[in-house]
Amino acid sequence: MKFSLTVVSALFALKSTLAVNQLTIKGSKFFDSVTGQQFYFKGIDYQPEKGAPEGDLDPLADSTGCTRDAAVFKDLGVNSIRVYQTDYSRNHDACMKTFNDAGIYVLIDIPTPKYSIDRSNPSWNTELLNMYKLKVDAFINYQNLAGFIIGNEVANDVPTTASAAFVKAALRDIKTYIRSKKKNIPVGYVDNDDLDIRLSLIAYFNCGSDPMAQADFYGVNTYRWCGANATFKSSGYDQMAEPFKNYSVPSIVTEYGCNVVQPRSLGEMGSIYGPDLQDIMSGGFLYQYSQEDNNYGIVDVSYGKSAVTKLDDYAVFKKNMAAANPKGTTMNSYNPSLKTSSCPSVSSTWMSSSTLPPPPSESVCSCMVKSLSCVVGSSYSTDDTGMVNALSNSASTICGLTSCADVTADSKNGTYGPYSYCSSTQRLQWIINKNYLNQNKNSSACKITGAPLNVVSPSQSNINSCPNSSSSSVTDAPTAPSGTKPGGSSNSGGSSSSDGSSSQSGTTGSAQSLILNHTAAFILVLLCSFSLF
Ligand SMILES: *[C@@H]1O[C@H](CO)[C@@H](O)[C@H](O)[C@H]1NC(C)=O
Ligand SMILES: *[C@@H]1O[C@H](CO)[C@@H](O)[C@H](O)[C@H]1NC(C)=O
Ligand SMILES: *[C@@H]1O[C@H](CO)[C@@H](O)[C@H](O)[C@H]1NC(C)=O
Ligand SMILES: *[C@@H]1O[C@H](CO)[C@@H](O)[C@H](O)[C@H]1NC(C)=O
Ligand SMILES: *[C@@H]1O[C@H](CO)[C@@H](O)[C@H](O)[C@H]1NC(C)=O
Ligand SMILES: *[C@@H]1O[C@H](CO)[C@@H](O)[C@H](O)[C@H]1NC(C)=O
Repeated sequence: MKFSLTVVSALFALKSTLAVNQLTIKGSKFFDSVTGQQFYFKGIDYQPEKGAPEGDLDPLADSTGCTRDAAVFKDLGVNSIRVYQTDYSRNHDACMKTFNDAGIYVLIDIPTPKYSIDRSNPSWNTELLNMYKLKVDAFINYQNLAGFIIGNEVANDVPTTASAAFVKAALRDIKTYIRSKKKNIPVGYVDNDDLDIRLSLIAYFNCGSDPMAQADFYGVNTYRWCGANATFKSSGYDQMAEPFKNYSVPSIVTEYGCNVVQPRSLGEMGSIYGPDLQDIMSGGFLYQYSQEDNNYGIVDVSYGKSAVTKLDDYAVFKKNMAAANPKGTTMNSYNPSLKTSSCPSVSSTWMSSSTLPPPPSESVCSCMVKSLSCVVGSSYSTDDTGMVNALSNSASTICGLTSCADVTADSKNGTYGPYSYCSSTQRLQWIINKNYLNQNKNSSACKITGAPLNVVSPSQSNINSCPNSSSSSVTDAPTAPSGTKPGGSSNSGGSSSSDGSSSQSGTTGSAQSLILNHTAAFILVLLCSFSLF
């Protein structure tokens, strides 16, 4: 009696929890690290926004929502979700356990709209490194964490390709940070399937002599397949997949589900999980779970509420998922010999050098500031746009007259000043101080209308004895920012463009908005060179 009760409860326990095994990558495929079976993402993009509290979106902090949706995922046959926006400072234990128990892997985007590399004014700096580490720390210990995404559609056309070097530097440093914690969580990059730049991007994130600077997987957000009559060929899915045929790491369709024709028939699922792509890619994620303004949802849900309303596309997705039965291989019988890519050369259509920005180091930056003789006063605030603009305008003018290469990053040329990764306030002070020294410490060169500046005697006598950038800055523990809560309420973020892609490459806040290009400097020189000194 006692025995059979135990058996019954053991069976019940097995049935009610499907805790997942860690995933591992071999060649261009994912595997279950315990069973050795190939793993395909039967995924859905997950970012419910309705009714969410003020601040950063974070569906993984809504335990009611996660319990509600874990049951829906089971009904759909989904085994993974991708979550774009989360708040490192909230607790995710309940949601991650709920999903783990339901057999759901989670792919986490590291950036948020406020803390991300800005495609049109890119920088990989101390602040972003710190924020990205905090995000890693918030999720790294969950067993069902499938991987991290270092950037989503950052370079999305030819003019923004200069941002790729900064994203690749971020990838290198975050991989280094994760490996320093003895974790093998993969870190990947995701593009927007832009025909002009995709081949370069796919090669770029897979090239170079430093394996830490290569993506562990590559994602494509693609909306090529539209309408019931589209086929693998007519949609261009065959071309979409072509560069991944001999790619050395796994590729995933991180967003699919064109909604131009409604209701959707989602015929691409037959290709993603069938003979067309099962040997090339590792599954995909439907965009998206919840119905939002952009009209891609399959359910209607609201933060903290248990109700779920199924929409038109729910049944189609469920039926196609039930038919998805990709024929994979096993880790033991798969022994690939795949080569990494050659780096694309810099050209008018590709503006990221294979020489990457250095790892940001806060100790280098604070030492640099300690060596300065003209610095901002304690009343200086990066939240005060008047002060920031006063300093930025002066700095732009100065940089039109003297070299600011030490605080400037040029990813097209592959040249990065030793302080180019410092905060904008630190870099601005370096520039103002340079002018102050050039003016032989004339006190009027340390005065700017609208910004507090002080002449001080530096506590660090020689800038050249400051430490150099090193990988220890990458493995150091992050510090939670003080003052206003990160993510604040100023940026609701996650705004979705018409193609359904959730843009993550918005602003990085006023702290990153320093413009130091020569056009701007030249114009400012013309406008205000007489009033400055
Ligand atoms: C799809 O094909 C069917 C049958 O051939 C045809 O009736 C229909 O008009 C086509 N739809 C579109 C959008 O081309
Ligand atoms: C992939 O590699 C195989 C074997 O080396 C080769 O035959 C094939 O042409 C390659 N395909 C592409 C698209 O490079
Ligand atoms: C470009 O890089 C070369 C060496 O890598 C350097 O000498 C040169 O100054 C750089 N040009 C600019 C405009 O920064
Ligand atoms: C940092 O690098 C510079 C130039 O490479 C060198 O002159 C300096 O001695 C280095 N500083 C330290 C502390 O290693
Ligand atoms: C430089 O700044 C000017 C003025 O802000 C802007 O119009 C231009 O696009 C910038 N150029 C580059 C290459 O960033
Ligand atoms: C300091 O700069 C001001 C403003 O440019 C100028 O009038 C003054 O002569 C300078 N003083 C010295 C000692 O160079």
